[in-house]
Amino acid sequence: MPLVSMNAFLPQAKKEGFAVGQFNVNNLEFVQAIIEAGKEERSPLIFGASEGAIRYMGLNNVVALAKAAAEEADVPVALHLDHGSSFEVVMKCIRAGFSSVMFDGSHYPFEENIRLTKKVVEAAHAVGVSVEGELGTIGGVEDDLNVSEEDAALADPDQAIRFWEETKVDAMAIAVGTAHGMYKGEPKIRYDIIEKVASQIEAPIVLHGGSGVPDESIQKAVSLGVGKINVNTENQVAMVKVVRELLDNNPDMIDPRKYLGPAREAIKETVKAKMRLFGSSGKA
Ligand code: 13P
Repeated sequence: MPLVSMNAFLPQAKKEGFAVGQFNVNNLEFVQAIIEAGKEERSPLIFGASEGAIRYMGLNNVVALAKAAAEEADVPVALHLDHGSSFEVVMKCIRAGFSSVMFDGSHYPFEENIRLTKKVVEAAHAVGVSVEGELGTIGGVEDDLNVSEEDAALADPDQAIRFWEETKVDAMAIAVGTAHGMYKGEPKIRYDIIEKVASQIEAPIVLHGGSGVPDESIQKAVSLGVGKINVNTENQVAMVKVVRELLDNNPDMIDPRKYLGPAREAIKETVKAKMRLFGSSGKA
C-alpha cells in the first residue's frame, strides 16, 4: 500500500478503543523490524521520524525506506514527522513525501501555538496530510528536545479543548505526566486530564514517552481516549542489548549483518508486544 495519512486509522482507533503505535526509526533495521511486526500482527502503524533522525538518515532516505516498506505491506502505514519545530520543516517533509506531520508549538505562548498550528493544518490538509499538535511540555530528552522535570508542564484541559476546537488537528498530544526516555520511578499519569479532553474532542489523544510505562497504565490511558502512543527508547534498549552481548561475546565479529540482524529481531519482538498491548493487532 502507498503511505497513508493517520486519518486512515485514527478515527477507527478512537471509536473502537485501541491505540496505534508510532515507532521511531533510526536506521534501516528499525524500518524493517517495525514493518515486519505490523505485517505479522496485522496492525496499522506509524513510522516516526524526528528532525535528528532525519539529519542522521537523510530526508530522502527516510522517505524512500518508509515508502518501500509500506508498499510491500498490506497494512496501513503512515510516515509522520515527530516534533516538527517550524512551518518550514513541516513543509519540507510534506514535499519530500511524508503522509503525516507533528507541529510542536508547545514552547510558544498558547495563542501563538494555535495560530501557527492552524497554519500548518490548513496547508497539510490541503494535500491530504494529517497533523498532530502539542500542548503542555513533555519532559525528558529526545534528540534536540531536552526538558528538565521542573520545566515539564502538564496541559490545561480547558486550553487543550479550545486548542483542538480552533486548530482541528487530527491527533492531540497533551502533556499528562509521561516523559521521553526511560523513567527512574513510575510515571504519574494524569488520567483525569486524558478523560476530560478525550471526551470533549473528536481527535484521539497522543501519549508521548511510551517507553517504560507499565502495561496497566497504558491500558487505562487507552480506555480513556489515547489513540496514538509513541515509542522509541524501548526499541533502542532492545537493540543495543543484543549488539552489546554479541560483540562482548564475539570479539572477532566484524560483519554488521551478524549483530544488526539479531538486533533487528529484538526490535521486531518489542514492537509486536506493543501492538498487542495497544490493541492494534488484528485491526488492519
Ligand atoms: P520514548 O523514547 O520515551 O519511547 O518516547 C518516544 C516519543 O515520545 C517520540 O515522540
